[in-house]
Amino acid sequence: MKKLLIALSLFCVSFGLNAQQKSTEDAKMEKFINDLLKKMTLDEKIGQMNQLNWGDISDSIKTRVRNGEIGSFLNIYDPVQVNEMQRVAIEESPNKIPLIIGRDVIHGLKTIFPIPLGQAASFNPQVVENGARVAAIESREKGITWTFAPMLDISRDARWGRIAESLGEDPYLAGELGAAMVRGFQGKSLSDPTSIAACVKHFIGYGAAEGGRDYNTTNIPIHLLRNVYLHPFQKAVEAGAATLMTSFNDNDGIPASGNGFLLKDILRNEWKFDGFVVSDWESMREMIPHGFAKDRKDVAMISANAGIDMEMVSETYPDYLKELINEGKVSMTDVDNYVRNILRVKYRLGLFTNPYVDTKKASATYSKEHLQTAREAAIQSAILLKNENVLPLKETQKIAVIGPMADAPHDQMGTWVFDGEKAHTVTPLKALQTEYKNINYVYEPVLKYSRDKNTSDFEKAKKAAESADVAVVFLGEESILSGEAHSLSNINLIGVQSELLKAVKSTGKPVVVVIMAGRPLTIERDLPYADAVLYNFHPGTMGGPAILDLLYGKANPSGKLPVTFVREVGQIPMYYNHNNTGRPPQWIPKLEDIAIEAPQTSLGNTSFYLDSGDKPLYPFGYGLSYSKFEYSNLALSTTELAMGGSLTAKVTIKNTSNVDGTEVAQLYVRDLVGSIVRPVKELKGFQRVSLKAGESKTIEFKISTDDLAFWGRDLTKKAEQGDFDLWIGTNSADGLKAKFVVK
Ligand code: BGC
Repeated sequence: MKKLLIALSLFCVSFGLNAQQKSTEDAKMEKFINDLLKKMTLDEKIGQMNQLNWGDISDSIKTRVRNGEIGSFLNIYDPVQVNEMQRVAIEESPNKIPLIIGRDVIHGLKTIFPIPLGQAASFNPQVVENGARVAAIESREKGITWTFAPMLDISRDARWGRIAESLGEDPYLAGELGAAMVRGFQGKSLSDPTSIAACVKHFIGYGAAEGGRDYNTTNIPIHLLRNVYLHPFQKAVEAGAATLMTSFNDNDGIPASGNGFLLKDILRNEWKFDGFVVSDWESMREMIPHGFAKDRKDVAMISANAGIDMEMVSETYPDYLKELINEGKVSMTDVDNYVRNILRVKYRLGLFTNPYVDTKKASATYSKEHLQTAREAAIQSAILLKNENVLPLKETQKIAVIGPMADAPHDQMGTWVFDGEKAHTVTPLKALQTEYKNINYVYEPVLKYSRDKNTSDFEKAKKAAESADVAVVFLGEESILSGEAHSLSNINLIGVQSELLKAVKSTGKPVVVVIMAGRPLTIERDLPYADAVLYNFHPGTMGGPAILDLLYGKANPSGKLPVTFVREVGQIPMYYNHNNTGRPPQWIPKLEDIAIEAPQTSLGNTSFYLDSGDKPLYPFGYGLSYSKFEYSNLALSTTELAMGGSLTAKVTIKNTSNVDGTEVAQLYVRDLVGSIVRPVKELKGFQRVSLKAGESKTIEFKISTDDLAFWGRDLTKKAEQGDFDLWIGTNSADGLKAKFVVK
């Protein structure tokens, strides 16, 4: 009950209302909906549950809207068309119910922000919220009232192309940032004319696709589901997310669009979600090839009984729901509730009052503020992985700008960009030509795109490097190599980019590598040829100037990895918050040191790879700065924590360098013995701390036993008594350590 009240008050706060105002508003809304429902025919009700794709449809569609057969479109983005379709719905359909218009606005509509994985590297909820706000403002100008974001699939497999859309591998980080994204899209109130409804997706487990192969089956057992995969969704629902989308995968044999345990027991009964659930594109119909439904009628029955409110494009509801209700196989009460859920979101969005776009209003798209917000996001999303005294560059140095990503305006935007325009993208090369005009540079792209295997210009690259003081090599992935249905089994730098890097390094000049990619690539083999590596997940419209700001020290890198960077693809899945084996590695021999015909047990029988050990290339949370930070004086307010109580952990961070900078301090815990095995570390807090050169600050984290709660053996969520380790530090592998006991 207490949790419910907290959730309710959080919901109210997020919608700018106090609890009393909210209940009066809600009562008014529910009455409006019930009155409307009484007037609707069954066909109209089913129409509300039907979403179609605009692109596929002829003009006869107007008739269907007029007849009340369609509740939503995805992918209309022309405001004039939106207004016309809304006019038909409002003026000509029997009960004047507006449409809700959805589109995948994943990291910006026109002003493109870093891909979500990049935004996650900022460890900054405000950056994520600001990005979603800009996206909402630009979308609403087009008549889009609903986005299919945030994607909160925990992703621990860089082969999976959709890792780009995720907020990384950690449930706590994804939860905090996902809630921020919801706040950004939905604004202070959904009814604000700049707000759009968020849709948290994909419920659930999609990121755990076996082998990283998109759409693949998942096998997430109940404790893992509860403790890891569901957490960010719950946070987003608590933040007021208006809608939720099911996933394509089957988990343990049950496709998500047919899983009543998820949609009814967890989402509705436990979390009290009162928005609506949309199935993913044809995911309902796909239960037939899955082998879970025998035909389209079966599909409609399974999904209607599981709790899908709105069907995306596959139209089994309009074809069969009526028949199923008449046969008593689907209940009318369920259908009424599904329609209520949909109407509630339309009502909250203010669509019944004004569904139209004001096409005369001045546009904020690509405004100076939007571009500046995107630039700041790209700055905070970049991660400095290596720096051997080469960065920041001096403006007096001549640079050789080399590589396919130096001027790739389309690819720099990343995956899931339908509306962003490359003509508006500022690439690093363009930023040199427009903003950083005093830099002396020579440009040799050498490769036309990341997959280009033509080595004929390698000599030109060498000449360019020889003529300069420093070579800056822009490598990475084209945007088409990540995203939906773009999984890879080899995640090395693609094509001949590694060879290009070697050729440049052979000149003896210092080499800075800038990588723009949709996933963590396996770059260990490239590191010897780079004196510095600045990693940017695809950084969006303003990536170019942001990167130059960082290279020239106008901005100081502060991003941290939201995912583990593996050494070899064969180490996947590798993530920091794993369980311990009974045989953690103690000693790892080098392959070449293993004696010929060594005896069977001579390598110690512990858990590691003979060829790549047990450690990643870079751990979760890792990222360097031009500043140096020292942590000291970790102190806990108490080492004995009563159940229900909390403690404060204090630590001092000093910037020991002569450069101002920002450090992301991270707090991790380990519950040493649990009723189920607990992860070796779990992120429980993070703070961005800005420190002037030479400055020290003492920061505090508060940890309560609620923060330590998990779904244990008995499948209830609670903290358990016992010993805990706690670390505060600069990444998941380093930190000062303390101990406490929960009594
Ligand atoms: C994707 C969703 C997306 C939907 C609508 C599907 O293929 O999985 O994430 O929102 O299409 O475009």
